[in-house]
Amino acid sequence: MKVDLFVQTAFQQNTRVVSCERTGKAICIDPGEPSPEVAEHIRSNGYDLRAIVLTHGHLDHIGGTTYLHDEFPDAHILLHEYEEPLYRSLPRQPLMMGIQPHQLASLGMDYEDPPTPTRFLEHGETLEVGDLRFTIRHCPGHTLGHVVLAEESEKVVFTGDCLFSGTIGRTDLPGGDHNRLLESIESNIMSLPDDFVVKCGHGPDTTVGRERVGNPFLTGRYQLGGSSIG
Ligand SMILES: [Fe+2]
Repeated sequence: MKVDLFVQTAFQQNTRVVSCERTGKAICIDPGEPSPEVAEHIRSNGYDLRAIVLTHGHLDHIGGTTYLHDEFPDAHILLHEYEEPLYRSLPRQPLMMGIQPHQLASLGMDYEDPPTPTRFLEHGETLEVGDLRFTIRHCPGHTLGHVVLAEESEKVVFTGDCLFSGTIGRTDLPGGDHNRLLESIESNIMSLPDDFVVKCGHGPDTTVGRERVGNPFLTGRYQLGGSSIG
């Protein structure tokens, strides 16, 4: 497995092209912005882009979907069905964040309606990409239909905005639920072995083991509503 990283948008979101080294089949996880660089990277490496996989529907994770799909129309667009309303709300998401209509163009956020998803991902399904097998795990809490992708033989999990190095996803946006996020992380990510590499939607990679002992949201050192941290 090869993972090519592109840090995109003002939110420094980690867009990744993940490919099978034997077959060249690839997916793009969370295209954050319209990116000729990503399209050229896929072409120059001879990748066969099979799918655009969206961990969730926030604008910094889906803003490049239309562009990438226009470039590679045969690539499927895959997300969880609970995430479709958020995905379809892309043109309105900046306004919900308080950005004014006249600011949209200069910020690169004058989004059109995104293309129709090819189909919806289901919890427990296996997404085959050449020799790679990604298990889809539904992890609500940051949003209603967030998914993570675990590749067992490579020992890598792509966690979107559920789990980061040393912290967890925010839960103050629509669909957010702190306790539900903690449950999702426990059952779907921390259930993986310690040596799994965690590739996050923002920031550096970590491992399941490092988060198990050091992430204050998971060790109980930080309790929402508690009196102190540490
Ligand atoms: Fe997000």
